Amino acid sequence: MSGPADRDGVREVARSAARAFAEAGDLAALEEARVRFLGRKGEITALLRSIGELPLEERPAFGETINDLKSEIEGLFESRRSALGANGAEEDHFSGDATLPGRRATAGGTHVLRRVVSEMKAIFFGMGYSLAEGPDVELDYYNFEALNFPVDHPSRDLQDTFYVNRDILLRTQTSPVQVRYMERHRPPIRIIVPGRVYRNETPDPSHAAEFLQMEGLYVDRNVSLADLRNDIAFFARSFFGADAKVRFRPHFFPFTEPSAEVDMSCFSCGGSGCAICGRTGWIEIMGAGMVHPHVFRYAGYDPDAYTGFAFGIGIERTAMLKYGIDDIRRLLGNDLRFLGQFWSEAAPEVAR
Ligand code: DAH
Repeated sequence: MSGPADRDGVREVARSAARAFAEAGDLAALEEARVRFLGRKGEITALLRSIGELPLEERPAFGETINDLKSEIEGLFESRRSALGANGAEEDHFSGDATLPGRRATAGGTHVLRRVVSEMKAIFFGMGYSLAEGPDVELDYYNFEALNFPVDHPSRDLQDTFYVNRDILLRTQTSPVQVRYMERHRPPIRIIVPGRVYRNETPDPSHAAEFLQMEGLYVDRNVSLADLRNDIAFFARSFFGADAKVRFRPHFFPFTEPSAEVDMSCFSCGGSGCAICGRTGWIEIMGAGMVHPHVFRYAGYDPDAYTGFAFGIGIERTAMLKYGIDDIRRLLGNDLRFLGQFWSEAAPEVAR
């Protein structure tokens, strides 16, 4: 040791203590090292004694430095002692029970909506439909005008539609892709269009401001309402089970004539009537109809040469029916306790 006032000397004591503790291979060697630094005749004590050699005004600061050094070395000693372990041999740091089961890493899974869309796609691909897509940010022209919506139709209202400006909006339905697709392709065409749609709705158990639809469109010579019924019934049986029945109720959509709402026999009671179907035995699953001649004209098709049908399925609604989910908002939230229930089976991933 050089003189007591030497701060570098203090650091040097800390370093050599650390080195001595690290080199101690068992508890006896460690105890020897402890005595050398922390013992009554050890280095710390010697340093404290040397305070008397300092000018009066430097003593308090130096005393503090030595006390800090002492706690630092005590800390080093304690950690080395626990590293050496109670039996005195150097152990590795594992101190658990090696026979306990491991911690499982949680893996994610396919979102129930994605799974439902995949299943629906697989069914329609099997019937010869192919996939089409269109933009979420859409022109008023495709979303309304070319679909034969009158200028004053209530769904054009600001209260229902998110407008970007007078001509541009967030699509309220996947139907605009019908016209976009027909503009670029000649019949026969047979497409499905899954996609997100937006409506200015206040969320509640059965409404959300954004949700998914799947549009279908089939155009050829001599396509009939019977073809529509056949494809929809086939879809319902494939998706909901062999006993599923469908019925068509007359309805109105501007872009189809005639138009219908399609009901499916209640998945829960099988048609006898229960709380889920409002005691009617039937649950609405989609809108559908024969493509309106005006829509064909907007798309550049000759309405005398071709006929076609279209349908639009609410995907959340379909998922809710299939799995008995009571609130659409659960599907849009990220509660893994809810979503994890649907992870058990692998979703059928289908190529485009
Ligand atoms: N676009 C309609 C809606 O969002 C659903 C619909 C009804 C689509 C009839 C169709 C159809 O293609 O033919 O309410």
